[in-house]
Amino acid sequence: MLKIIAGNFKSNLTRSDSIKYLAKLDSMLNDTICSSKDLYIFPSNTSLMKNNYKYITIGAQNCNDSDSGAFTGETSLIHLNEFNINTILVGHSERRNLFFENDSICARKFTYFKSNNFKIFYCIGESLEIRDSGKYLDFLKHQLSFIDTSFKNLVIAYEPIWAIGTGINASVEQIYECISYLKSISNAPIIYGGSVNENNANDILKISDGVLVGSASLAIDVFYEIINS
Ligand code: PGA
Repeated sequence: MLKIIAGNFKSNLTRSDSIKYLAKLDSMLNDTICSSKDLYIFPSNTSLMKNNYKYITIGAQNCNDSDSGAFTGETSLIHLNEFNINTILVGHSERRNLFFENDSICARKFTYFKSNNFKIFYCIGESLEIRDSGKYLDFLKHQLSFIDTSFKNLVIAYEPIWAIGTGINASVEQIYECISYLKSISNAPIIYGGSVNENNANDILKISDGVLVGSASLAIDVFYEIINS
């Protein structure tokens, strides 16, 4: 199976920064580097553009589950369709925690984008409190119970909240335990996210189907090293 390497720019990099970044990264890649990898970049919504890249697929970090309409401040399907974007992140912990997207909202988005044939990166992951309680595997199972885990265009991103943007790495053993468990629930590729960087990517890629990279994707040289891991 191809390893999935995805960069999530979050609310960083302007449109012009993103255009420069994508053009440069695409030019640094070649068939040999990319033969075993599937590459995705999720830029800010104002940086969405037609996918003119040879090796990179552009996805949306978020979108409303509507074709169009009265949803002030939201991006709808027509806006993604304009750029032929058909890849989306759903359920990122920042959307869940900062913007109150609970399991039922995430499931609604999943169902909507599934019916529109998107590739969906569905993010799940436990808080530190749940990890410490020892009930994290049950929690992950519960998060997945809201969606169709047999959807053929699903990628599950396991991202423990306590390891996202904190610089705290989950250990390879901790990641392995969760990925193995998730593989008993779904045949979808299971990728890992949470403080992935150029130093730990290699070990994580050995036990996962890929990585979802936040802050370390912002510097092109660092992200390139991760791709080369
Ligand atoms: P991080 O973010 O790599 O900065 O921890 C990962 C993510 O939020 O997907």
